[in-house]
Amino acid sequence: MKIIGQCDIKEIAEMYGTPLYVYDKQQIISNYNKLKTAFRKHYTKTEIHYAVKANSNIHLLELFNELGSGVDCSSPIELFLAKKAGFDRSNIMYTGNYESIDELKFVIAEDVIINLDDINSLKRLLRFHTPERVSFRINPGIGRGGFEGIVTAGSDAKFGVPYEKGYEAYKMAKDAGVKHFGIHMMTGSNNLEPYHFVEIVDKLMNIAGDIFTKLEIVPDYIDIGGGFGIPYTDEEEDLNIELTAKLVCEIFHEKCEKYNFGEPHLKLEPGRYLVGNAGYLITEVTGIKESYKTFVGVNGGMNTLLRPSLYGAFHRAYVYGDKANSNYVNLCGQICENSDIFARHLHFPEVEEGDLVILRDVGAYGYVMASNYNNRLRPAEVFVDGNTASLIRRKEKIEDILNLYEENSL
Ligand SMILES: Cc1ncc(COP(=O)(O)O)c(C=O)c1O
Repeated sequence: MKIIGQCDIKEIAEMYGTPLYVYDKQQIISNYNKLKTAFRKHYTKTEIHYAVKANSNIHLLELFNELGSGVDCSSPIELFLAKKAGFDRSNIMYTGNYESIDELKFVIAEDVIINLDDINSLKRLLRFHTPERVSFRINPGIGRGGFEGIVTAGSDAKFGVPYEKGYEAYKMAKDAGVKHFGIHMMTGSNNLEPYHFVEIVDKLMNIAGDIFTKLEIVPDYIDIGGGFGIPYTDEEEDLNIELTAKLVCEIFHEKCEKYNFGEPHLKLEPGRYLVGNAGYLITEVTGIKESYKTFVGVNGGMNTLLRPSLYGAFHRAYVYGDKANSNYVNLCGQICENSDIFARHLHFPEVEEGDLVILRDVGAYGYVMASNYNNRLRPAEVFVDGNTASLIRRKEKIEDILNLYEENSL
């Protein structure tokens, strides 16, 4: 591997240093257009709200705003960044969980659409405000994800209103004087199987049909969440997004008719699908150790890219150039934890200190999960657009860490 967009990886690494996150702008644009076209073909009232949590770099948010996307935010600062990136209130949605009163006050003051995580969230909200519109995140009782850590519905999930309590939640809102309603779910991340989406949308539509028929509510919108997956290995295939959109819209139309919903907005909240495959992490080999196994250590680790240590996620890794794979190694970082391993028993080329190792598909849940563990500094981020590379966030400095201490404590 040598190129991102039309830029030479070695040149980018020399210019900005390593470790370094690099995002391919044209890839993001193409992902967004593909998803939008697939759904709008079958339902023109489809709205995409990019899930800011996947990658909140303000320059990416500005790009999504230019593309006409909305956003879904999960914290007050994500909301602040979305506004700073230029999003209009009407395109901003907020989906928190275990929201504090202060958080709810902040979101209400910003006058954006809110998806409440629980009946008690509504009770906290009603203590100081009766909103015009309410939507609950429903746990439809089923969830699926690329692995256990990213399943966000079902009996083990901390998220959402269990669907059996959905009626009670909406009744409370209606009795309190709320006039407009939506419904939301997010059941799991990184799904590659179109029929999974049919199953969950069918379930949500029936839950919505049951609750809203009893309460004589016609929803403004139905939000089916994100969860559209990307392949992380050579063996996995792309999610067939055209088929997914067709099947989802078919069931959506059918149930809207059955339950007399008219034509509510169909909202999607993709994160990974839009930015995942656009991101690369460039690292540099700092040490090679022949121990009981062979370890190749690079200058990025769980502090730079947490997913492998957090959930056992796999990211394909390549050495800059065109060396063929020749041996098996454990690819690790520099953090003092034995879980700081990107991949075990990886078929890999012979490397030397100073070689560049590039990890793929790190555009989603990459930089946003980076930390200062071991007091290592967070890397810089670069946007590549064709043959142009530009810095979109500088590398952290020691001053950024020192600034957090009270002046007189140093
Ligand atoms: C509420 C909500 N919406 C959207 C997303 C984005 O999910 P994905 O990146 O799988 O599309 C998430 C991810 O966890 C989420 O919690």
